[in-house]
Amino acid sequence: MCGIVGYIGKRDNPQIGLSALKRLEYRGYDSAGMAVYNPEKQEIFCLKAKGKISELEAKFSDAPLHGSPFILHTRWATHGEPSEANAHPHWDCEKNIYLVHNGIIENYKELKELLIAEGHKFASETDTEVIAHLIEHYFKNNLEEAMRQALKKVKGAYALAVIARKDPGKIVVAKFGSPLILGINDNEFLVASDASAIVSHTNQVITLDDNEMAVLSPNDFFILKEKPIEKIEYDAEETQKQGFSHFILKEIFEEPDAIEKSIAGRMILDQGLAKLGGLEQVLEQLKKVDKIIITACGTASYAAKVGEYMFEEYAKLRAKTEVASEFRYKNSILDDKTAVLAISQSGETADTLEAIKEAKRKGCLTLGIVNTVGSSIAKETDAGVYCRVGPEISVASSKAFISQLSILALITVGLGRQREMSLVTGKNILEELQKLPELSKKIFNQADYIKGLAEKYSIYRNFYFLGRKYNSSIASEGALKLKEIAWKIHAEGMPAGELKHGQIALTDENFPAVVICPSDSVYSKMKNAMEEIKARKGKILAIATEGQEDIKNLADDVIYIPKTLEMLTPILSTIPLHLFAAYLGLELGLDIDKPRNLAKSVTVE
Ligand code: AGP
Repeated sequence: MCGIVGYIGKRDNPQIGLSALKRLEYRGYDSAGMAVYNPEKQEIFCLKAKGKISELEAKFSDAPLHGSPFILHTRWATHGEPSEANAHPHWDCEKNIYLVHNGIIENYKELKELLIAEGHKFASETDTEVIAHLIEHYFKNNLEEAMRQALKKVKGAYALAVIARKDPGKIVVAKFGSPLILGINDNEFLVASDASAIVSHTNQVITLDDNEMAVLSPNDFFILKEKPIEKIEYDAEETQKQGFSHFILKEIFEEPDAIEKSIAGRMILDQGLAKLGGLEQVLEQLKKVDKIIITACGTASYAAKVGEYMFEEYAKLRAKTEVASEFRYKNSILDDKTAVLAISQSGETADTLEAIKEAKRKGCLTLGIVNTVGSSIAKETDAGVYCRVGPEISVASSKAFISQLSILALITVGLGRQREMSLVTGKNILEELQKLPELSKKIFNQADYIKGLAEKYSIYRNFYFLGRKYNSSIASEGALKLKEIAWKIHAEGMPAGELKHGQIALTDENFPAVVICPSDSVYSKMKNAMEEIKARKGKILAIATEGQEDIKNLADDVIYIPKTLEMLTPILSTIPLHLFAAYLGLELGLDIDKPRNLAKSVTVE
């Protein structure tokens, strides 16, 4: 890394810059340099020296420069050996643009080739010099406009401070990926890589965010926010039904693909690591987090509950699910070691958005799992992971829920491997997760069978759904999907252990149970619940693991799902529940894409 200092204002002695720069010497010291605009001569003078800042200071004392603005730099070489020629500042062909940079320009080689082809002459081996010539390419008479255009071509990280002979009286700074702060004083402004360089001049600072530029002049400054162009990752075709009678059916049948898209490129299998680009910039903060609150509404809140169990059991991180509409008012205990993770398909749910704003007010790191690119929650959170499953048109959420569960498994590995999770455990989870797209396709071989069950059970107007541990909230999701889509039916989901604490009063031959009982650590407990239901003539539709033949002695009907890790069973057990709900709604002749009274995104509280 390198150190940057800049100054513009009433003083014209760059010695203050040198003193400030020395405070940044820890960031690199293989060479240093400065550029000073002299208003009388209307020229920019530049001094550079190989070695420590003291070498530059010696040169400065031999040939003192005066003027304002000035910019300074101390270097830790990345591209080009430590030398005077490679020291910053760098300038363009006309010696109009002078700039200092901290960061790495990843595409500097191709840019340099293009600029050389245009006739630009380079004086150094650095990546940085490319930016000076690129700004020259766009420069007409306004430095910030030229920089704005130039930076659109740049890939990589940068903190930049730039001055121009032909547009004097300003320093233009820009930040992406490397730190940069502004120091505010009476009629003078400073810029630096960190506050230690300017704390002796002011304690009022502004920390620039990524994609922000600032224009500093002797009496004022303003900040420009370059809105990054977000890429919609689906085409018009995807928003059509593609041969299905309803969007909900299309989107349920897309669920294997949703798993695939959610995990693609996001695993480093041999190291048992998750690779979530959207969280990279907060990984250090996540290491320090000692509690995570997962907040969401409706279907997304049931994914949150699964995530809570995953985080606690496998990442050894304290986790709690808070329904967003409650979170804001119950005044949860939050601090700067609490992360708040919002889950939202639309990214516009008002309750969830407000919950995130409340968490930010309390100093929490805020994260998101969101499907809609560029949505309010995606923008409001500090970092996050996009589902990448394309538009979900049906009002009832299906493939996005499956994606949320898949991403929660990835985040579990990410958090776990920062903590006690071994490489072997991380690798095992990722390998099993990687099998799910293919395994889940097998469930659709039973689609017609499930359709037949929907017809068989369409005589009932009340259902309850039971599950334990990872599938307790899938019971709630199955119930919600059923009553949402086949809204002539009431359904309730609950942890199976709760059956005997009241629900069982309703159990009889007219009140069927959907029981999610994969072969996992609580399978025997699930069989107890089924025995209790059978003893009261209750009908049972079981969701069980392939090979569990004994379940047929307890259940009236069974839908089998492939075997997988206990923590991943919700991703598979949900699919037959979504199909069952959709087919039952169809059987009742309802609009299963637009159930009455509902909206796809609830943007009111
Ligand atoms: C899901 O089937 C429902 N339509 C509803 O519960 C939904 O999950 C909830 O409104 C949250 O929406 P979001 O995921 O877009 O935030």
